[in-house]
Amino acid sequence: MITQNPLPNLTFEPMHSCDLQEVIKIENECFEDPWSEIYYMLSLKRPRSYEYFYVARREHTIVGYIVFSILYEAAHILNLAVPTAYRRQGIGKYLLTSALEMIQAHDGREVFLEVAVSNLPAQYLYRQFGFRICGIRKNYYGRYKDAYVFRKGVETHAV
Ligand SMILES: CC(C)(COP(=O)(O)OP(=O)(O)OC[C@H]1O[C@@H](n2cnc3c(N)ncnc32)[C@H](O)[C@@H]1OP(=O)(O)O)[C@@H](O)C(=O)NCCC(=O)NCCS
Repeated sequence: MITQNPLPNLTFEPMHSCDLQEVIKIENECFEDPWSEIYYMLSLKRPRSYEYFYVARREHTIVGYIVFSILYEAAHILNLAVPTAYRRQGIGKYLLTSALEMIQAHDGREVFLEVAVSNLPAQYLYRQFGFRICGIRKNYYGRYKDAYVFRKGVETHAV
C-alpha cells in the first residue's frame, strides 16, 4: 500500500506467524497487560475475514503494528504499538493512516477505539486524526483503569 512514508524504506504489510517473535517483544514492552502470543498465533493461523493484522517494517525490522476490524460500516482499532526506540518519528501516524485507508476502501463509515484515560500520547495521536471522545468504559483495563471510547467518521480522516 502506498501512503505517506515518514521513514525511508518503511512498508505496511500483513503480519505473518514468522513475525510473532518481534511482535510479542514489542507487545510486552508497550503494554502492562499484553495480548498473549497464543492469541496472536491462533488469530494468524485461523484468520477471521473481518480482522486485520498489519506491521510497519523498515528493511527487515518490525517498527510497529496495528490490529483492526471492519464489520459492515463499523471499524474498530484494536491494538497499535511502536517500540520505544522508534517513537516520535511518525510511525504511529503512518500505521493509523494506512489502516484508515483500508477501512475507507472497505466502505467503513465510522471507527471506534478504546484508549486508557491515562494514555495521553495515544490520545494526542488520535485527536490529530479527528477522533473524539464518545464514551467512557469504567475499569476497562483493570480496577480504576478507565478507558475513553473515541470515534470518528471515516470521511473526515485527513490530518
Ligand atoms: C501511541 C504510539 C503508538 C505513538 O506512536 P509514535 O510512532 O510515537 O507516534 P508518531 O510519531 O506518529 O506521533 C504522532 C502524534 O502522536 C502524539 N504523540 C506521540 N507520542 C507522544 C508523546 N510522548 N507525548 C505527546 N504526544 C505524543 C503527537 O500528537 C504526535 O504528533 P507530533 O509528532 O506531530 O506532535 C506509541 O507511543 C506507543 O506505541 N505507545 C504504547 C502503546 C500504546 O499506548 N498504544 C495505543 C493503545 S490505544
